[in-house]
This record gives sequence, structure tokens and C-alpha cells, in this order.
Amino acid sequence: MAEGTGLYVHVPFCSVKCFYCDFTAFSGQGSAADRYVDSVLAEADLYPGVVPDTLYIGGGTPTELSAVQLTRLLRGLAARFGPIAGLRESTVEASPETGDPARLDALAAAGVGRLSFGLQTASDRLLKAIGRQHDFADFRRVWADARARGFSLNVDLMQGLPGQTAVDARGDLDSVLALGPDHISLYTLQVEDRTLFGKREVEVDSDLARETMEDAIERIGRAGLAHYEVSNFARPGREALHNIGYWIDRPGLGLGCGASGFLGGERYQNEEKLRPYIERALRGERPVAQRERLAGKEKLGESLMLRLRLLEGASLTPAMQEAFRPQIARLVERGLVSVEDGGCSRCLPRLRLTREGLFIASEVFREFVPPWETTE
Ligand SMILES: C[S@@+](CC[C@H](N)C(=O)[O-])C[C@H]1O[C@@H](n2cnc3c(N)ncnc32)[C@H](O)[C@@H]1O
Ligand code: SF4
Repeated sequence: MAEGTGLYVHVPFCSVKCFYCDFTAFSGQGSAADRYVDSVLAEADLYPGVVPDTLYIGGGTPTELSAVQLTRLLRGLAARFGPIAGLRESTVEASPETGDPARLDALAAAGVGRLSFGLQTASDRLLKAIGRQHDFADFRRVWADARARGFSLNVDLMQGLPGQTAVDARGDLDSVLALGPDHISLYTLQVEDRTLFGKREVEVDSDLARETMEDAIERIGRAGLAHYEVSNFARPGREALHNIGYWIDRPGLGLGCGASGFLGGERYQNEEKLRPYIERALRGERPVAQRERLAGKEKLGESLMLRLRLLEGASLTPAMQEAFRPQIARLVERGLVSVEDGGCSRCLPRLRLTREGLFIASEVFREFVPPWETTE
């Protein structure tokens, strides 16, 4: 499991905004990319004491940066935090239309070990309907190029898309499993107000989403990838260490526009607007917009909620049991979580999502965030 500090770098550029996406990502801002790299490196200078052991460059689409810009960013990070190849894990997110050989070579040369491609679906009809800029053939080409360079590979898939049938979802998995991924992230569409889908009031068919998720868990498992987190599957030893760090409350330094971090017990989020972020970072100022230091019951609830995302569950400390007795009792009664013996006389009991709880995990997690209902 992950220990130490994780380094996250956000790159907020995309060629076009997908119809479902509410991430901090701007289209048509590519001319700011050089200054953006400068500003991330200037921000990195503010944290000379941080020694990361995992790196995750996410977005937006980091590979919207050119090969030269990616090299400059990665060399700059290496100069401040140590060689990328020496980290326990280093991941860069990429979209299929930007994974050309020059960029892949730049990432490999810098020591990056893992790529995460957003595919979403293998159906060209659905890719068009959700606003993607590539087809499945583009993805297959880039995947083969990335494999040839020895990267460990993740693919993001989505289910619950408008117009997506059970047959489509099954076809997505067949197509992806045939490519032998090391890791799969499978997300159910979240309809966010600020997106095109939100404005169109798109609805997810929750019965169908559950059916396709059940089928996916079964089929991905048969292909040798273990289901280790609500939305994540991995071959043995290929779990996403950096991401596991978020779920076990590991310290994390977040750099870049809209990035969040967790340092010295404080959670912070950076400025989400591009120009103000760049200007503040280049002035040598910490470009933080919000900070929060949770304590007491709030902190215990957050830790429980995050750890419950992992299928191995959470150790229940006496303080957690005390603070959330009614909530846990209610969830056990509804069959959404189980409390299991820790396995030895001095081990703490474990709280885990049940199979039923897995499909309505966000409802389970709500029990651990304020305002709390206290009646049993
Ligand atoms: C930053 S993107 C991945 C890299 C690249 N930008 C791309 O899309 O190819 C992160 C991933 O989050 C998932 N995602 C984004 N918005 C989502 C939403 N509204 N509901 C569910 N999953 C979503 C998608 O699977 C997407 O690939
Ligand atoms: S899903 Fe990826 S490519 Fe699409 S808008 Fe979001 S960050 Fe950009």
C-alpha cells in the first residue's frame, strides 16, 4: 500500500469540452500552455521540503501539451523533486487523439511508467454522442504505440451514457479486454449541472447502469483484474498507488490550476481560474483558494468514507465506532455494509461495503458527512 507523499499536477487544457465533463479543463487556451508550465514550476519551488514517491499528472488532458512542453514540465519536476524513473509510480493521463509517437517518446524518455487513456466507450456512435474527438481505431493505434514503449496502461470507460445499451456496454468490455489492459477505471456517468448533459437534463437509467456494472465486475474479474476500489480494477501489482493514497489519507502535494492537496493535516484547493492561477504562481505566491482542517467527528467521517471506497474496507477505530454507532447500525441493517472481525485478538474490526452497498456507494458515504442523522 502507498505511503509517503503523492505529487499531483493538474494540466487544465482540452481541445473541446466533452458533453459530460465538469473537470477544471479549458478549450481554446493552448496559447497559455508555455506560461502554464512556468507557473506550475514556480509553484513547485514553494515546496522545497516535499519528497514525493508517486506522481500523477492529470487534467484536463496533459497530452494537450506538446512533446517539448511535456519534456520541460517533467524535467522541471525532476529537478525539484528527484528523477521520475525513481518514483514508485508515475502516471500521465492522455486522450487518444493526443497520444502521438512524439509525445509518447517524450514521456518515456522522461521516465514516466504508466499512462491512463480516456476511451469512455468503444462505440463510434456513442463517442460522437458524448462529444469525444477520437474514434475507437485512433484509440487502438495509440494503445499499441504505448504498449510498444513499455508503459503500464489504464483505460477509463464510462457506463450509463445516453443511448448506451447493455449490448454496447458488453461490447466496450470485449473490445478493451482484448487489448490486455493492466488497469481499468469504470465510471458511471454523473450528470453535472454545468455540463451540456446537465443543461439537457440527461438522466441515467440506474437499473441498466447496475445491470451493466454487475456484468462488468464479473467479466473483468474473469479476465484476471481484481476489483479493488468502487470504480477500479487491476492486474495483481498494478493497482494505482497514487490514487490509493487519496483513499487512505496519505499526504499529497497538488500543483496547478484547480489542483487540491493535503499537507500537514490541511486540505487545500488552488485557484480554479486559469489567468489568476498563472499570475499568482508566477508572482511566487501560493495560489490557494480554499483551505480546510477537519477535526473530531468530521475528520473521522471523512477517513471512513474515503477508505470505504476500497473493497478491503476500513479498520474501525474505537473513536469511529463511538462517533458513528447509529449510522453503522443503520447501514448494517439495510445490508449496505458489513462489520467483520479483524482476524486477530488485537486487530480492529473492519467495515466494508457489501455487494449491495457497492451499487449505491454514494448513499452509504453520505452517512459519514455532516449533517448527521443520529437516531438509530
Ligand atoms: C481527466 S479525464 C481523462 C483524460 C482525458 N482528459 C480524456 O478524457 O481522455 C478523467 C476521466 O474521468 C471520467 N469522467 C469525467 N467526467 C465524468 C462524469 N461526469 N461522469 C463519470 N465519469 C467522468 C472519464 O472517464 C475521464 O476519462
Ligand atoms: S473528459 Fe477528458 S477530454 Fe473530455 S473534457 Fe474532460 S478532461 Fe477534457
